[in-house]
Amino acid sequence: MDNFININQLNASELKDLISNSFDFQKKFYKNNVDQFSNKNVIFLFLEPSTRTKTSFKIACSILGINVIDVSSENSSMVKGESIENTLSTLNSYPVDGIVIRSANHMDFEKAKEILNYPIINAGSGINSHPTQALSDLKTLNEKFEDFKELKMSIVGDLLHSRVASSFIEGFGKYGQKTNLFSPPFFKPKKLNLEMVNFYEDFEDCLKNSDVIMALRIQKERLNDLNVDFDEYASKYQINKKILDEYNIKYLMHPGPVNEGIEISHGLQNSEKSLINDQVKNGVWVRCAILDKILREQE
Ligand code: CP
Repeated sequence: MDNFININQLNASELKDLISNSFDFQKKFYKNNVDQFSNKNVIFLFLEPSTRTKTSFKIACSILGINVIDVSSENSSMVKGESIENTLSTLNSYPVDGIVIRSANHMDFEKAKEILNYPIINAGSGINSHPTQALSDLKTLNEKFEDFKELKMSIVGDLLHSRVASSFIEGFGKYGQKTNLFSPPFFKPKKLNLEMVNFYEDFEDCLKNSDVIMALRIQKERLNDLNVDFDEYASKYQINKKILDEYNIKYLMHPGPVNEGIEISHGLQNSEKSLINDQVKNGVWVRCAILDKILREQE
């Protein structure tokens, strides 16, 4: 595998192997038994903010013995006006083994594929894809459910701007499963692949058909001209303890960061049914698995 840009690059068995390897990395780490790389260098080019993804990639690199060169946008020469093309050409001059990129513009990944001579790992591409988040979400589910055959998994909220939802749907589909979706009309995606999803127009219908709910962040930075009344949204669509109990929903997920008090109620992140912190924790192990796969295949 040269690059990891989309979940759909993987077939079902490759995806399941990655998840299985992520469990192995977790076990090996606590037994002090991780087979580390020597002399590997990976650049981080984060052109959008990140807490979870960047931190877990950093920890994964530390566990694997990979040296990180962090080119964050606010400290790079892009601030002085250097183009993305010239930035990538500059970074291509270094003897490194891979690059982890996050960008609001999915075309930056196309440019990176053209310019760079080393593997690219997608850490969040615009509203299109966030494949390592999907890996983390699938591992988190796999910790609770041995298989996903009977699992009613629903994603609710700002589907229009969610790269997390797109990648999760692809990943869950590899297990032969459809993802249930609900959004209010203003967050309904323009296109829906009905072979992969069941879209509910009614919130309650979706809740009734959910073992696990993943609430999505309202992506305030991507709303542009869309006026959303956040109080009204919270009053109609917020996930809270009463909803989880009333509809017998076993677990709550959310990729983070959470707009607390809007898409989920205050305190719910750290409540009994929440897997949100597990999603964060598992980010480390799945990123160990993908970095290990890509770098070993280059050797
Ligand atoms: N889920 C996620 O991508 O979070 P960060 O933006 O904090 O990396």
